[in-house]
Amino acid sequence: MDSSPSKSLRESLRQALLRREAKSSRRRLTVLPQSSVDFSSNDFLSLSTSPIFRERFLDLLQQAPPLYPFASGGSRLLDGNSIYAEELENFIAGFHNAPSGLLFNSGFDANVGVFSCIPQPGDLIVYDELIHASAREGMRLSRAGKRVPFSHSSPSSLDEVLQSHIAADPLIQTGSRNVFIAIESIYSMDGDIAPIQDFIQVVDRLLPRGNGYFIVDEAHATGVFGPRGEGVVQGLGVEKRMLIRVHTFGKALASHGAIVLCCPDTRDYLINYARSLIYTTAMGFPFLASIRAAYELLAEGETEQHQTKLQQLVAYFRDRLAELDAWDPAAFQVDHFPTSPIFSVRSRFPRQLAAACQQKGFVVRAIMAPTVPAGRERVRVCLHAGNTVEEIDGLVDTFKQSEPASPPLDALTPAPTAEIPTDQAPVDASDSDSDDKINWKSNLAIEATECVFRGVHVSAPPFPFRQRWDANARHEIGERKNRGRKRKRREYEEYDDEEYEYFDNEEIQRMYDTIAATLATVAAAHTSAHPTKRRKKAMKKKKQGRAVGGDGGPAPAGSLA
Ligand SMILES: Cc1ncc(COP(=O)(O)O)c(C=O)c1O
Repeated sequence: MDSSPSKSLRESLRQALLRREAKSSRRRLTVLPQSSVDFSSNDFLSLSTSPIFRERFLDLLQQAPPLYPFASGGSRLLDGNSIYAEELENFIAGFHNAPSGLLFNSGFDANVGVFSCIPQPGDLIVYDELIHASAREGMRLSRAGKRVPFSHSSPSSLDEVLQSHIAADPLIQTGSRNVFIAIESIYSMDGDIAPIQDFIQVVDRLLPRGNGYFIVDEAHATGVFGPRGEGVVQGLGVEKRMLIRVHTFGKALASHGAIVLCCPDTRDYLINYARSLIYTTAMGFPFLASIRAAYELLAEGETEQHQTKLQQLVAYFRDRLAELDAWDPAAFQVDHFPTSPIFSVRSRFPRQLAAACQQKGFVVRAIMAPTVPAGRERVRVCLHAGNTVEEIDGLVDTFKQSEPASPPLDALTPAPTAEIPTDQAPVDASDSDSDDKINWKSNLAIEATECVFRGVHVSAPPFPFRQRWDANARHEIGERKNRGRKRKRREYEEYDDEEYEYFDNEEIQRMYDTIAATLATVAAAHTSAHPTKRRKKAMKKKKQGRAVGGDGGPAPAGSLA
């Protein structure tokens, strides 16, 4: 049998890709030329090309007895466990001053495992609005009663969100409902470090019964921040305040996988309930050896020289970028958190700027909306211990030469308005054509209709109201309704983390509520004032039905009446 998809499926796939193409958001796999200069990857310590890492890794591989299996052979819970894996967990937990640790195949799996099973039914998860897609994925699978975002790295927003939920939920007040606070220690897009101590103060004050639990993702901090690269949390000495710390190995540690640091009870619970651990083949020996190699180097202080070199380059690049700011402040704006290896160079033409750098052999990436909010598009630059001053000079010079003359940056940054900007309206960009004819108000109507399928508390717009929307909107509603019947499928379409962001914040929730209220008012007015022909017909049919059936009971669930 031919394995290529049927014509109609192929057509659906192509159409989806074409829509992305039209929005310049189609993703492609790329292979970079070997000679290019890395200003993009997460290999912050340049460990993946470092001779000391290679030597240690090969040495550990060589130490394996002749018939020692290189493959794990199964799930950790079946044949995939080993003394080597358990010793490694203890070693890493010791390094991070944690009571115990559990390895996962990736940071993605770790977050999915943690968020999907640790919050208990009815619990509350409060999360930073910029939290990584893997945490969102886990939250989507979780049994928590509510998942509520707070403004990025804002203790006052956390305070506000917590207060409103504490006031509304006596179980939180009494301490019998758990509240999980989900943050990252350093964020990948802006490179900023979370105000963890301020968050702790807020939680201590508002949840004095101890039912507030932090889950912190140290993916970008591991190896880079804290003494010996222990992470931000240990750098602050607050590791005991974290219920769970997730450290990943695929970034500065030049390896693959992740560890969840937690108490033995939590570890045991994860072994029993985290499906991303249970239903997958565990990492084989070469992976474990590479993680061990990286952690041995950290523990011996061997990577501190890489950390120091990285910080020197960060300071140098910062100075050079300040020069750039002074050179043309209207064209460039640099966002940078002190000591972070991640820089944002906001430009009028991020794509063109990134392309110009790439042509010169410097790998940088343009980060566009909706990955970042509209108006905050940028070129993201990541520094590495292995970069040189000459490479940094070359990059800055390319920035200077590439910026075409045009209106100042501020002119392109949307001014804050009371209205939601068109490009941030809650359109499901992943499956709707970016058709100018459909304005965002129509899209709001469509969204309202779709709430029904998403389980958001909004009732379906009644028929007479739906009639009022323009033809485009009605057509789109019809189409989406068909698709929306299968909620699972709909969720799958939302898989795209970038676009998902806009569905999952309080502002959208408020909009849904407003729409629901408006719909209810309009429907009530319409129903009482002008019953449509269709309604009359339906009423007549109902009467007839009563006359025949006699009992006048409600229509069966799912009927069209
Ligand atoms: C904050 C954060 N958490 C988790 C992950 C996932 O880690 P991994 O690449 O090991 O799956 C990433 C990176 O992709 C990340 O940036």
